[in-house]
Amino acid sequence: MEKTIEESKQGQATIIKKNNSFSKKLYLESYGCQMNFSDSEIVASILANEGFETTRQLEDSDLILLNTCSIREKAEQTVRTRLRSFNKLKKRKSHLIVGMLGCMAERMKSTLLEEEKLVDLVVGPDAYRDLPRLIEEVEGGQKSVNVLLSREETYADISPVRLDKNGISGFISIMRGCDNMCTFCVVPFTRGRERSRNPLTIVAEARDLYNKGYKEVTLLGQNVDSYRWNISKKGDIIDENTSTTNFAQLLALVAKVAPDLRVRFSTSHPKDMTDEVLRTIASHKNICNYIHLPVQSGNSEILKKMNRGYSREWYLERIKAIKKIIPNCAISTDIITGFCGESDEQHQETISLLKEVEFDFSYMFFYSERPKTLAERKYDDDIPLSTKKSRLQEVIDLQHIHSKKKNENAIGNTFEVLIEGFSKKSNEMLSGRNDQNTKVVFPKGNAKVGEYVNVKIESCTTATLIGKII
Ligand code: 5AD
Ligand code: SF4
Repeated sequence: MEKTIEESKQGQATIIKKNNSFSKKLYLESYGCQMNFSDSEIVASILANEGFETTRQLEDSDLILLNTCSIREKAEQTVRTRLRSFNKLKKRKSHLIVGMLGCMAERMKSTLLEEEKLVDLVVGPDAYRDLPRLIEEVEGGQKSVNVLLSREETYADISPVRLDKNGISGFISIMRGCDNMCTFCVVPFTRGRERSRNPLTIVAEARDLYNKGYKEVTLLGQNVDSYRWNISKKGDIIDENTSTTNFAQLLALVAKVAPDLRVRFSTSHPKDMTDEVLRTIASHKNICNYIHLPVQSGNSEILKKMNRGYSREWYLERIKAIKKIIPNCAISTDIITGFCGESDEQHQETISLLKEVEFDFSYMFFYSERPKTLAERKYDDDIPLSTKKSRLQEVIDLQHIHSKKKNENAIGNTFEVLIEGFSKKSNEMLSGRNDQNTKVVFPKGNAKVGEYVNVKIESCTTATLIGKII
């Protein structure tokens, strides 16, 4: 994600800037999921208040923060390599502080301080309000750590500094943490218990973005379908004097902010996604017809071992419900190949599920065992890497065929596209997405970034539709 600084004010923002001028420079780099990118905007806001201006020039910085991901081993390796690359700069600039934020900070705690001396500062996802104090400690010559997880923190009152480049599309975090305990997943350990954010602050943030010219918001949570405000886990009302909000109702509230504000959301969970949510999407033109619904595996036994809370049949029934209630809905998924004990037959069930659903898009991974997860404790990571990788390749090749077919079928159709910027390849071409989240590029004509245009599709690649404004 690109970084420019633009102070954003939310209706109920309580951050009061202590320093009107920026005296120090912050270089902030984010890895992993959209939630991390969104968190970085909260961090930038907290630190702007302390006089830190964000910079894209590493050499100029007084503080380097990496917002890290632990989801797979490779993600952590990437961060370690990046941290080592700062060593030279650190030697040249004695006051330079390097800190690690996010999931890897939470998972590693102080080990990176002690063992490898790669960082001065380690801060977990629920401790960002403590950053000013922690930085002061480091400036005083100490190493600093805060990895406390919270049951309440949602940063609801903090007005994020938007770090995205285009000023058209913004993330809004609606909840934090995850209670699902999928056996392969490290997130419940690094991001703590699930908690939802006050809906009024979410709507205020969407309205504020719209007033600043944004045309799209994406509501973020590990499992948005379990968003609940003033409703207990069992479904009871907590406070009789406060209104309750579930995810479907939250979607409708955000959709009402403005008819030309597109609303997206991620991630949905097959075990929790209700027909009420689907009907809400269908009945609001500005809620995009696109659902990311991770399946992980097409075999019920593996799904059980993964503790996903649904079977193959349940998942396929949810797909049917989507297709019935929102006929034009694009659907994407996540797949893991080579989970503990996965047989060839079980893998073939993933292949057959992919063939049955024909997803528009997939994020595909081979299983990477993560320390302390339930799978690490309970199951043998017994599928050879070569098998994990060949199964993954099979999945990738199949998805490629499906994505291409979907795009080819779109040729001749006309889509409303929100223009997000110039195409990567040419300044004569604009780029945006249609309602179904497919990238569309077209000659710019007189159109401008932030406008909606109708584009007739003339050709395609696997990932992109190419057309002309009509
Ligand atoms: N190994 C491989 N992939 C994983 N994911 C989560 N944990 C792991 C793991 N240990 C994938 C899942 C999830 C996505 C965000 O990352 O598919 O939906
Ligand atoms: Fe991890 Fe499962 Fe929670 Fe997603 S739903 S964050 S995969 S535990």
